Amino acid sequence: MTNETINQDPEDVPAPQPSGHGAAVARADAKPILEVDQLRMYFPVKAPGVFRRTVGQVQAVDGVSFQVAEATSLGLVGESGCGKSTTGRLITRLYKPTAGAIRFGGKDIAQAGASELKPLRREIQMIFQDPYTSLNPRQTVGSIVGAPLAIHKVLPKNKILPRVQELLEIVGLNPEHYNRYPHEFSGGQRQRIGIARALTLQPKLLVADEPVSALDVSIQAQVINLLQDIQNEFGVAFLFIAHDLAIVRHFCPEIAVMYLGKIVEIGDRESIYNNAHHPYTQALLSAVPDVKQAATGGRIERIRLQGDVPSPIEPPSGCRFRTRCPIAQEICARHEPPLLQIGRQHKVACHFPGRLGEAPREPFTTGLLGVDAEGRPDPGASPSTVLVEQPGYADTWFDLDNKSIGRA
Ligand SMILES: Nc1ncnc2c1ncn2[C@@H]1O[C@H](COP(=O)(O)OP(=O)(O)O)[C@@H](O)[C@H]1O
Ligand code: SF4
Ligand SMILES: [Mg+2]
Repeated sequence: MTNETINQDPEDVPAPQPSGHGAAVARADAKPILEVDQLRMYFPVKAPGVFRRTVGQVQAVDGVSFQVAEATSLGLVGESGCGKSTTGRLITRLYKPTAGAIRFGGKDIAQAGASELKPLRREIQMIFQDPYTSLNPRQTVGSIVGAPLAIHKVLPKNKILPRVQELLEIVGLNPEHYNRYPHEFSGGQRQRIGIARALTLQPKLLVADEPVSALDVSIQAQVINLLQDIQNEFGVAFLFIAHDLAIVRHFCPEIAVMYLGKIVEIGDRESIYNNAHHPYTQALLSAVPDVKQAATGGRIERIRLQGDVPSPIEPPSGCRFRTRCPIAQEICARHEPPLLQIGRQHKVACHFPGRLGEAPREPFTTGLLGVDAEGRPDPGASPSTVLVEQPGYADTWFDLDNKSIGRA
């Protein structure tokens, strides 16, 4: 690891550059609109044949906790297969979770039934990755965007068209084009239609699942700017899902990094881009193409992640990242590292948390887990009983630099 350097200056991480769309700042005291607590989604794996016995579980989301504050954005980042879309689909309650709580506006909706969910469908909306497949090709833009108004009977029929036209204007489309079909629009315009549809019922939370991944790079910044404008104007909160750290940098004041069903690091923008302490976050950061570096000819070695994300049916024991981690040791196979708060708005799940190339030699977690450096039970130690991961941040944390307890 020592000869691997990455440039962690956030100014060096290129992202769609919004102009005049000021990036928001994460505030620890902001009121959460959404609180996800120990969320789990296990999909059963069935054997072929008549009886279709359950022979395993896909642990797609396995104990995830976070908050999204009102009118702000949390970025959820990780490679394909890490459980991001499943998390989004749980929050919008397209899936019912196996366990855990989803508190929206203070009310737990994790196990809510159809009638309880109906009003919620107005308040939480989803924007999908693929503007080509998420719009019905046989419907006009007017009926696509207006459908939620008709279904939820929020406006009389004669008021629907003016509202649709207003929405088209908000997302930067010509309001006179309400009678056209999706195929008459470009990819970026189609995503704008998807955004207009999501806005129709004035939601409080938008789950945007890789909303710009299918678009040309030149169009991505425009769509992100539009989402930023929408947030500024309507105060809507976002869970913004992306597979790389460049896209969410400007838009999200807080970022959660997910690996194989778990959050491995979460923090405010500064903590993630300037002070990442998890090897997986560091690898994701190093994979971001660096424009400034190319311009200066500086050589920054990329940390290459070996292989693919392992199967969530039989995830590795202990730390799920250990099969690809460049600094894994014995303890990593024996114990799952708890997600520990190491800063005012910064948590990391690693036995050896540290800046790139500065990981401690001895595991940090032995005292908490009551084990020795290899992860074997230490008869003299008393494991901590307070390692349950809560959403949000506590007023005290482990200050790794000063080897003390930090306080807000
Ligand atoms: N409906 C499903 N049934 C079974 N497995 C699923 C289902 N949806 C997703 N998975 C599995 O769960 C894991 C996480 O998937 P997903 O949430 O789509 O990840 P991401 O969005 O991060 O790429 C993957 O291994 C995927 O194959
Ligand atoms: S706990 Fe071990 S395997 Fe997991 S990220 Fe940390 S060092 Fe790597
Ligand atoms: Mg996905």
